[in-house]
Amino acid sequence: MKALYSDWEQQSKTLSLTSEKNNSDSIFSPPWPMELDKESQLFSEGLVSVRDLHEYKTLTKKEKLLIMSNELNNFFSINIFGESQVILDFKSLLKKNYPHLVTEYIQHFVSDEINHSKWFSKFIDLYQGKKFSPVFKVKKQEIDSDENILKIFVKIYIFEQISLFYSNALVRDRNVNELVKRINAQHLLEETSHLAFGEAAIKYFVQKTEFVNKGVNLSFKKHIRDFIETNWLSFYNPEIYVGVFSEPVKISDLAFQNPKQLTFRNDVTRTILKKLENIGLRLN
Ligand SMILES: [Fe+2]
Ligand SMILES: [Fe+2]
Repeated sequence: MKALYSDWEQQSKTLSLTSEKNNSDSIFSPPWPMELDKESQLFSEGLVSVRDLHEYKTLTKKEKLLIMSNELNNFFSINIFGESQVILDFKSLLKKNYPHLVTEYIQHFVSDEINHSKWFSKFIDLYQGKKFSPVFKVKKQEIDSDENILKIFVKIYIFEQISLFYSNALVRDRNVNELVKRINAQHLLEETSHLAFGEAAIKYFVQKTEFVNKGVNLSFKKHIRDFIETNWLSFYNPEIYVGVFSEPVKISDLAFQNPKQLTFRNDVTRTILKKLENIGLRLN
């Protein structure tokens, strides 16, 4: 049984060393200007949730900038709520007595997530007012079986992959505000380690959990599919459109149902599910 731990332990050890070298606090050092330039673009146009709607294309530049600012607020808010869930999950998992090296990295992981939430909250508080409401609720999850623990790791992995996709695009877009890029670049770096840990954990539980070998059951697959759907839905939060469109809920529905958006989401989801399949977990 001990041998099963080795890759996960080894990966945890490497990631703890990386994490110790990392200076996450540097994000808080200047420049955080008193206020942002009004012309500053806070989000990537290629990620805007309403980009494929005719209603968006006819907006003024100022309105588009407001939508982009709201999109960033929503993205940071999603991260803050998701990070609260991750922190809660890992605090429960710490009671499981995993090997020392694994536990040690989980502590780094939790402390990274606490930091990320601080950066995102600071940005929103300074420049954007208030956080948006979460579409999903943070809740305590069952850790009574390997199947349930695997479910938690898979959800964290999917959540972080989607978040990484957005951070990556924001960092690469030269039109995006420098501070936004800097925060996302650091996020990207740390999330890359989290995902490496997630992959090692998933591999471990896939090997250990019998039901995976027999074929993942329908309720597990449905649970993950529903989670992915809710996750995506949160990127179409009606609060993004307030102040620009008179019917934010209608715009949210139109954007979510837009065929190009469906293709976009399916492409990202497919890539993530493929990565899971490559580490031994087939969910479709
Ligand atoms: Fe994070
Ligand atoms: Fe993370």
